[in-house]
Amino acid sequence: MDKTVAEAEIIQLKEQLNKWSQEYYVDDNPSVEDHVYDAAYQRLLSLEAKFPELKTADSPTQRVGGKVLTGFEKVNHEIPMLSLGDVFSKAELADFSERLYQASGSEFPYSCELKIDGLAISLTYENGLFVKGSTRGNGLIGEDITENLKTIKAIPMKLNKPVTVEVRGECYMPKKAFVALNEAREKKGQPIFANPRNAAAGSLRQLDTSVTAKRNLSTFIYYLMEPEKFGVTTQSEALNLMASWGLKVNQESRVCQGRAQIEAYIDEYQKKRPDLTYDIDGIVLKAEPFSVHEKVGNTIKVPKWAIAYKFPPDEQETIVRDIEWTVGRTGVVTPTAVMDPVILAGTTVERASLHNPDYLKDKDIRLLDTVKLHKAGDIIPEISEVVLAKRPEDAKPYAIPTQCPACQAELVHLDDEVALRCINPQCPAQIKESLAHFASRNAMNIGGLGPRIIDQLFSKGFIHDAADLYKLTFEQLLTLDKFKEKSAQKLLDAIDRSRENSLERLLFGLGIRHVGTKAAQILAAHFKDSNHLMQARVDEITAIDNLGQIIADSVATYFAQPAVQNLMAEFKAVGVNLTYLGTGNDSQVQNSSFSNLTVVLTGTLDHIKRSDAKAYLEAHGAKVTGSVSKKTDLLICGHDAGSKLAKAQTLGTRIMNEEEFLQKMEEEK
Ligand code: IVH
Repeated sequence: MDKTVAEAEIIQLKEQLNKWSQEYYVDDNPSVEDHVYDAAYQRLLSLEAKFPELKTADSPTQRVGGKVLTGFEKVNHEIPMLSLGDVFSKAELADFSERLYQASGSEFPYSCELKIDGLAISLTYENGLFVKGSTRGNGLIGEDITENLKTIKAIPMKLNKPVTVEVRGECYMPKKAFVALNEAREKKGQPIFANPRNAAAGSLRQLDTSVTAKRNLSTFIYYLMEPEKFGVTTQSEALNLMASWGLKVNQESRVCQGRAQIEAYIDEYQKKRPDLTYDIDGIVLKAEPFSVHEKVGNTIKVPKWAIAYKFPPDEQETIVRDIEWTVGRTGVVTPTAVMDPVILAGTTVERASLHNPDYLKDKDIRLLDTVKLHKAGDIIPEISEVVLAKRPEDAKPYAIPTQCPACQAELVHLDDEVALRCINPQCPAQIKESLAHFASRNAMNIGGLGPRIIDQLFSKGFIHDAADLYKLTFEQLLTLDKFKEKSAQKLLDAIDRSRENSLERLLFGLGIRHVGTKAAQILAAHFKDSNHLMQARVDEITAIDNLGQIIADSVATYFAQPAVQNLMAEFKAVGVNLTYLGTGNDSQVQNSSFSNLTVVLTGTLDHIKRSDAKAYLEAHGAKVTGSVSKKTDLLICGHDAGSKLAKAQTLGTRIMNEEEFLQKMEEEK
């Protein structure tokens, strides 16, 4: 291909991809399916590989990170990055606005904004191109994190206008990414992050920028420097202008005048807080006219024209009654505090993970201690501290177990993991957890085969491994607690149906280290059947797009084990399908009314976790997206739904409530 032709195509691809990326990551309103984006991205990658000299900084391919830095340069903030003064009550807020009114000499409205719980960043654009990004540091000197920020898709590498400007905002980790990151870290035996803010900070200051790239960080920009250069005179105009350039600006801000309107905004968002996809810790009030900013000025640390209203901490005291240790599928043994139930952010909480022995020791939590409990990132119950004044006199430091609670094997720390592990492959708790994983929705999806039933089947000696499930008899099932003919037949049918699943479900269900649903899908689609996969060499696996060394090593090591080879032979003998049936040909997908639909979930669901609803839909061939657009086929709507419901109603999208959804799931079982 001729270089000039390639160049023209590269320019066009970059523009198109950046536009789609903007719709997806900034506007939360995608216009194309993921595979369309992926195909264009692959094309750009291959052209850039042929003509490396045509690679530019604003190319979306430059966002994957991969630069390994040796440290962070210091950056001087010519105009200091200020923090905010806080108030903790509406009365203090009223005092603040009264003082500001006196100082400015006139009535004026406020731009009311959400106080995003992340960390402040500053971005510099020259002629519309992103050239530098930094942390706040101490306000005067921060750190240059340009390379890390380039991996965040919400930050445009090129603005829609060729402006030279510095803007400031918040970098944060969405709640979902925070939960997933901590879950993954816990499984791997790594220390967890206390809240999304710490997780965002830890992810931004990574010397290996490919780590930052994987952390799903996002930003909201809320501050325009030198607004007079652009002819804007109010904060809301500045927000709109920055959004028009393609920067991600939070859409929940509102200009409010007078105490009643401001307090109504606070109350509204305090209520909406649990439903937001990111964590907020309060509301920021900024004088709307910049003339007020100029008139009243700043102190050394904070502007006098703005204030943060912090939400009261939702914290409750309760008593620790027990510390339970549970063994996971991979042998990690995790402590959980069991406490007297209390209500926190709208739900009853009586358990909180203590993550690992170090965490428990650091907090020095003892049985019968009174503890303060809150929700980290507004979602995950967490003990903040022990109330030492209420500690019983005879309380002793908690003794960390040395033996597996399930099989009594000696517990160990592998390498320098913080996690405690049981490494006995025969440990019944690990086997039962593995069986539950095998039956779970994204794996073999055997409806009705939950942990309670697995527990009984295992203790009665009916099953020892996953292949045994397919040898269960009607008579054996009748011996289970509360099982009658109908329930026994239903379970047998569900097990039977799972024989026809496509290979990727089995692969995921086996619980091979590092093989999640995506890797399982790629492996199954590539090797087509288990025989080919089992014989695959590591280099054949790493040669597949999107699969790296870690997965390849893990898969090869897994299938090299004689016990695994026996298990696969067993599956074959009991008639489990070991071939790839192709996208959409899986029986679960074919028989589902959700197959091929683009679905959005919104509002609070009472009877099913949102992650489970999503997993169910995806396992049945639906594509679950985050925002309602013309492409959305179905909105599944819990209570207290907001803008997504309104949008679906205007677009005439089909809407299903939680009850109808659960009923459909039941029917499709
Ligand atoms: S304005 C001079 N607006 O809160 C401008 N800050 O506790 C000062 N923050 O350092 C910042 N959301 O990191 C502003 N909508 C918002 C914010 C916000 C979160 C952070 C920011 C600041 C900290 C102060």
